[in-house]
Amino acid sequence: MPKPEKHVFVCTQSRPAGHPRPSCSQKGCAEVFEEFLAQLQRRNLFDKVQVTATGCMGPCSEGPSVLVYPEGVMYGGLGKDDVATVFDEHLVGGEPVQRLFMAPEFWG
Ligand code: FES
Repeated sequence: MPKPEKHVFVCTQSRPAGHPRPSCSQKGCAEVFEEFLAQLQRRNLFDKVQVTATGCMGPCSEGPSVLVYPEGVMYGGLGKDDVATVFDEHLVGGEPVQRLFMAPEFWG
């Protein structure tokens, strides 16, 4: 398998009801993850981009959280409709989408 140019980690963490800490699952991460997979397939970028579901990465209150390497860019509060933009501008275009960045107090 070739080493991907970009590796996207989508937090899909859930927590039991009543847990004191929020989770990306409560904020719709499942549909964001599905959209990353759908866009990956539609664009046939399997040899360049890898998408991986992951557990909690820390900034739970600001999710859904999505981390992209090699840049180490964290997106926060990402919605399904933002995924195409991340592909167009960052994963394909090479320019991280600053307006969608996690706030620096959570990832900086
Ligand atoms: S639950 Fe997603 S970052 Fe913590």
